[in-house]
Amino acid sequence: MVLSKANILALVLGYPLFTVFWTVVFWTRIAGRYQPTWESLDTRPLPDWYDNAKVGLLIHWGLFSVPSFGSERFWQEWKGGNHKFVHFMMKNYPPNFTYQDFASQFKAEFFDPKEWTEVFEASGARYIILTSKHQEGYGMWPSPYSWNWNCKDVGPNKDLVGELASAVKSYTPQIRFGVYYSLPEWFNPLYELDRKNHSKSNTYVSTKVLPELYSIVRRYQPEIIVSEDDEREPDSYWNSTLFLSWLFNESPVRRTVVVNDRWGSGTFCRHGSYFTCYSAGTLPPHKFERRISLDRHSLGYRREARLGDYLSIYELIASIAETVSCGGNILINIGPSPDGRIPPIMEERLRQVGAWLDVNGEAIYASIPWTHQNDTITRGIWYTKDKDLDRTYAIVLNWPEDCLLFLGAVEPSKETKIFLLGYETPDAKFIRLKFEARLTGITIAFPDMSEVRSKWAWVLVMSGIGPALLL
Ligand SMILES: *[C@@H]1O[C@H](CO)[C@@H](O)[C@H](O)[C@H]1NC(C)=O
Ligand SMILES: *[C@@H]1O[C@H](CO)[C@@H](O)[C@H](O)[C@H]1NC(C)=O
Ligand SMILES: *[C@@H]1O[C@H](CO)[C@@H](O)[C@H](O)[C@H]1NC(C)=O
Ligand SMILES: *[C@@H]1O[C@H](CO)[C@@H](O)[C@H](O)[C@H]1NC(C)=O
Repeated sequence: MVLSKANILALVLGYPLFTVFWTVVFWTRIAGRYQPTWESLDTRPLPDWYDNAKVGLLIHWGLFSVPSFGSERFWQEWKGGNHKFVHFMMKNYPPNFTYQDFASQFKAEFFDPKEWTEVFEASGARYIILTSKHQEGYGMWPSPYSWNWNCKDVGPNKDLVGELASAVKSYTPQIRFGVYYSLPEWFNPLYELDRKNHSKSNTYVSTKVLPELYSIVRRYQPEIIVSEDDEREPDSYWNSTLFLSWLFNESPVRRTVVVNDRWGSGTFCRHGSYFTCYSAGTLPPHKFERRISLDRHSLGYRREARLGDYLSIYELIASIAETVSCGGNILINIGPSPDGRIPPIMEERLRQVGAWLDVNGEAIYASIPWTHQNDTITRGIWYTKDKDLDRTYAIVLNWPEDCLLFLGAVEPSKETKIFLLGYETPDAKFIRLKFEARLTGITIAFPDMSEVRSKWAWVLVMSGIGPALLL
């Protein structure tokens, strides 16, 4: 048999090409798609569920909930000499009392995870995130790498993360479970040693942080992982890209997990599934999440909080509207008490949010931003849009004077139809609102307020409209 030049060429080139092809297939299938570099990790698409969810809850619970005074940063404030905290300790505790002594007072005796899931469900939130370890370092699960500084060995004698994770999975499977895990710990001796070495060693990371992260993911399969307080060392010290490549390639949650942008100095607002930076009222190029706390002065529970320290339902809905119309998710923080209850004032706010979403959720969940975020003329109007249908939503924070609302950003057409969510006939048919085109914009006639089911804020559904051109 005589080989032609083409045959020889095919043989010479074919074998290496064949090898390269199968090597690529092998590495993408077996070794995973993502390399431990930001360039590679940043190419991972954001799992859809997160953008659709829009509303999440953050739960700050830990040893700081025991003094429940001042802030969840209690230990650091106290040791750092903040007068308010030093004075509080002098006045109320014996002189030899240490922060560790709070652990035996942490009982969580009324903790009923099923009851919590009822509140989560009523709030309309689509994901919840529990502090599994705050900067105080106390583990909210029986971490084998925590010596005994965790809730199973000292304090409640329960696996709090585990009980909540399994309650969410069995009672509210539509809600995703996530954990907050602080990379640094204020007073961990191993971390302090690394810091004395100017982070030339990373014993704290290799013996504590990484083993804990791998084990918490395997054990509870959180679909969100949130870190914080990461500014002091670069991500190379934290081995962040190594952990994240494992998380995205091999972990049990590799398909659905999302992470924030706090994985070492320089990662904030640059790397992560979503960013935690945002600028009020503007549409950023990257998915973001905005955190608000029901107690404006603290993430952890504070016994001394006054009624006015809590966000009102009006403020909450305004934040939700602004954030979602700019493409973000809103993360609402609550601080349970050391006995394991969601304080009634917080529960009430969450139930109010849920009642509002129950009527108006169509404008929030799975929505996308419209051409305009807020109105060009009338204050307190935030727009969103349906992904597929011809529906633009205007979230109206203030009931219009004389029941006449002017929208400067909206151009009606012959096909325009406008409804108000929660304004229906007795057989639940939407009632069309009358409107009038202006030179620019539109004036919409609202019904009598008492005929509308929604409270606190209202949502117009508009089809057949466009953005006004003359602005
Ligand atoms: C503090 O010291 C007093 C007196 O020495 C002792 O009775 C008490 O048990 C100590 N308390 C703690 C929390 O160590
Ligand atoms: C870090 O500091 C400790 C204690 O000072 C020392 O034993 C250790 O060798 C140092 N490690 C590095 C990598 O410098
Ligand atoms: C983790 O990071 C340290 C410090 O940057 C580095 O020396 C070490 O090789 C990394 N570990 C792994 C397994 O990549
Ligand atoms: C719309 O939002 C932007 C950014 O927050 C603000 O500057 C502007 O005043 C708002 N417009 C109205 C009419 O409220």
